[in-house]
Amino acid sequence: MTATQTPVEARIRISAPQLGAEVESLVLEVLRSGHLAQGPMVGRFEALCTSMAGTAHAIAVANGTVALDAALAVLDIGPGQEVITSPFTFAATINAILRSGASVRFADIREDFTIDPESVAALIGPDTAAIMPVHLYGLPADMRPLMSLAGTHGLAIVEDAAQAHAADVDGRRVGSFGVGCFSFYATKNVTSGEGGCVTTDDAMLAERLRALRNQGMRSRYDYAMIGQNWRMTDVAAAIAIPQMERLDEIVRARRHNAALLTSLLENDEAITAPRVPSGRGHVWHQYTLLLEPGIDRDRVAASMSSDGIETGVYYPGLVWDHEAYRTHPNVRRDDTPLAREYTSRCLSLPVHPGLSTRDVERVAEALDRALLAS
Ligand SMILES: Cc1ncc(COP(=O)(O)O)c(C=O)c1O
Repeated sequence: MTATQTPVEARIRISAPQLGAEVESLVLEVLRSGHLAQGPMVGRFEALCTSMAGTAHAIAVANGTVALDAALAVLDIGPGQEVITSPFTFAATINAILRSGASVRFADIREDFTIDPESVAALIGPDTAAIMPVHLYGLPADMRPLMSLAGTHGLAIVEDAAQAHAADVDGRRVGSFGVGCFSFYATKNVTSGEGGCVTTDDAMLAERLRALRNQGMRSRYDYAMIGQNWRMTDVAAAIAIPQMERLDEIVRARRHNAALLTSLLENDEAITAPRVPSGRGHVWHQYTLLLEPGIDRDRVAASMSSDGIETGVYYPGLVWDHEAYRTHPNVRRDDTPLAREYTSRCLSLPVHPGLSTRDVERVAEALDRALLAS
């Protein structure tokens, strides 16, 4: 660099896996062991998943999508039944419901982006089989009223906890309220590249889940049911294990960065920063704010991008607003005005654990500049 050049600050990504030397050496150990498919590393990973969710059982699977498929399958949810979920989610949530053969109903969200229990209550009918809350962005849904509705009406709870590793409600971990479904996709708070797990306290469900992911086998060549190959590999488990062992640290770093960003944005009237309802432990998979109505989100994102800050829009439309679902006979287009409004105002900013204090300051400064220009 010459005296006249200033150092170029690195681009800040919306997510960046933090792997490191422990992951490299554990993966190498698996490669050298010659045991690449599901084996002892998957067992170690599952033990860590039970600690993460506070459940008796965790069953590792190939990804978060099949975790949802597996949960619905073991609960025998299918044609003629309805599952109530949020329309403010990733397609995987409703794809799993539709693959099961059940119909999907949509409850509106609250201002914290999670499903509104009152809206859920209004949709419960004779065909309702389950409620599928999505712990969106790492914030747990309001589980207390949802559990009470499930108890009163005899409904199953399937938690889409894909984004919420170690999030909690009053100290109780997500994944322990019903059947929990986690993703370990590359951008998640803990990753195995692709991976998932299902958590439960029910020993019978756990036994069926283990068989279901492995061609229906209870033991070798003893086929108890029509199964799948939903297994996770030992290579994938080895990528996730060191991260799971320092999950508390990962959560602390995300919380620290989120709190810092909120304090830096405190006086910004053009946005509403995310608020955490009392009793709920957010793990900040995404830091998602709302832009005031009328602000051009694309311009804000473009301005931040030219300042070296990547942003995200999760999600730019209601999940059923897409061609695949618009005329699907099992999709009920329930009215969800708040979710509809928030799809056009939400914007996610980076808070991942790889960011320094200076990086978080750069995110806030870039947002301020973008808002001034918009
Ligand atoms: C809310 C939600 N549900 C389900 C999934 C599916 O997980 P996966 O990508 O591991 O299949 C994801 C992640 O991509 C997600 O964000």
